[in-house]
Amino acid sequence: MCGIVGYVGDGPALPVLIEGLRRLEYRGYDSAGIAVVDRGELQVVRKAGQLAALEAELDGRPLQGSTGIGHTRWATHGAPTDRNAHPHRDCTGRVAVIHNGIIENHDELRAELAARGHRFSSDTDTEVAAHLIEEAMADGVTLRAALMRTVARLEGAFALVVTAASEPGVVVAARKESPLIAGCGNGSGFVASDIPALLPYTRDVVPVDSGRLVEVRAGKVSLYSFDGTPVDPVPVHVDWDLEAAEKGGYEDFMLKEIHEQPAAVRDTMRDRFDVSGRIVLDDVRLDPADLRRVDKVVVVACGTSFHAGIAAKHAIEHYTRLPVELDLASEFRYRDPVLDRNSMVVGIAQSGETADTLAALRFARDMGAVIVAVTNVVGSSITRDADAVLFTHAGPEIGVAATKTFLAQLTALNLLALYLAQERASMPPERIAGTIAAMTRLPEQLEEVLTLEDDVRRAAKRLAGARDFLFIGRGVGMAVALEGALKLKEISYIHAEGYAAGELKHGAIALIEPGVPVVAIVTGRTHQDKMLANVEEVRARGAETILVANPGNRRAQALADELFEVPATKPLLSPVLDTVPLQMLAYFVAKERGLSPDKPRNLAKSVTVE
Ligand code: F6R
Repeated sequence: MCGIVGYVGDGPALPVLIEGLRRLEYRGYDSAGIAVVDRGELQVVRKAGQLAALEAELDGRPLQGSTGIGHTRWATHGAPTDRNAHPHRDCTGRVAVIHNGIIENHDELRAELAARGHRFSSDTDTEVAAHLIEEAMADGVTLRAALMRTVARLEGAFALVVTAASEPGVVVAARKESPLIAGCGNGSGFVASDIPALLPYTRDVVPVDSGRLVEVRAGKVSLYSFDGTPVDPVPVHVDWDLEAAEKGGYEDFMLKEIHEQPAAVRDTMRDRFDVSGRIVLDDVRLDPADLRRVDKVVVVACGTSFHAGIAAKHAIEHYTRLPVELDLASEFRYRDPVLDRNSMVVGIAQSGETADTLAALRFARDMGAVIVAVTNVVGSSITRDADAVLFTHAGPEIGVAATKTFLAQLTALNLLALYLAQERASMPPERIAGTIAAMTRLPEQLEEVLTLEDDVRRAAKRLAGARDFLFIGRGVGMAVALEGALKLKEISYIHAEGYAAGELKHGAIALIEPGVPVVAIVTGRTHQDKMLANVEEVRARGAETILVANPGNRRAQALADELFEVPATKPLLSPVLDTVPLQMLAYFVAKERGLSPDKPRNLAKSVTVE
């Protein structure tokens, strides 16, 4: 989720790059850097931290030159340090590359390039591209041809932008999956990851499709397919203002982030299977010997991350047969937990900064447990306290209510559970493979779930006046019910309770009176009959029923006042799909009530105090 920008024109590149990065900083703020071709030399300045740190570094160093590239980083491979800040250079220092995405075969390319004598100066996956371009250019080909040769070697997702000292007046870029646009106007040419960077200069942008290469010169954008065939650029006119552009045209970051979930899930799985389909968590660096001696797992987290922990408990127990305890991080260390060096403690925190989760992990570490952190933020505090880190690759989440980071956590935790099963041989390889196959279908299934938006908006209009909501589920459906209730209360300020459906008759059913909305998760077969019986019970008492069910469930259709149909998947994966209509419900109810979903009252994105 990095921000990238490239400029060619007749004016100085630096101010255009800095302004572009300012407008893209919402995409990542771990480090920022620029490269400008200045009188035949490539000048690169880069700095860990927010854009202000780069600006301070540039102070007193007015770079000349009207060709350049700039990057604002959301770290995935390599810590958020100066050394890993983009742009990255080749051995000659005459080629500079910026990148958004993940190059999956970087390890293998790095080894191959190192064997040919290339020296690496960062820990990033990106740097291999600079050295591959260097090799191609050494054969005397143009920068564009060199990039073409390079992309043929890369696996994964990338938007790469390149400049070279030998070719001032040209910036080339290539896209596979990760976003890229181009544009030109008034004797200038631009590429960027996103529209806001181009808005001050042009409103006619050329979308660069996946599998395309783009060459930008002053006033000219040329597109090519990866085999070099020219493609006609088709500009589209954008009339968004800056704020709308940052939100990708969505009204709020939360809605944008809900729509980014297929990518968040796909990116979290990327690079984590080898050619034979085995799960590889090399980046996590878990010692296989540690994994084999683990005799119990404890999961600790807060809020939405705790809900991901419920699903993790089910998955780890089912796949590995290891006992799993689940604790709210704020309670954990006060209950005198029993831990030793054979315990594995998994801490989940999208921010990586939640004070209670950090304290729980330190406590567990002091008791000798193996600590695994699951987080979305490279370089966050939790990564320093852990023996192993499993990153979710959801990109920055701006909306305070967690959405895409939750789905990425569910994905990462299922991967972790399957990895434990694989390494401990607790599950036959073909069952692991079957589950992985189901996981790889999730992004596409999520796209389908997102088409429910109009139905959910309509339902939200009707339900927005309710005073109380009940959300019920069983098994992993409980995680969905709790998460649905939390989303609704935190952004719409309606009282909502997530409940184990089986507990209804032990108290909560007394709350049901005509018109009370009850949201029930009735997907999958495991708890189907019991869930539908619970729905009948609340319906008989006048509740308004909102059901999340798989398509073609006749009983659910008959019992639902509102029905959100989501595709079927393996039961333990179902929260990834079932949660999405409830996120949308919370969002649209909040909008109906005139509230701002991105900034709910009294809440902060990371809770750094206990
Ligand atoms: C809810 C939400 C919070 C966080 C909680 C933990 O939408 O975002 O409940 O889940 O504050 O945050 P992390 O995951 O950063 O530990």
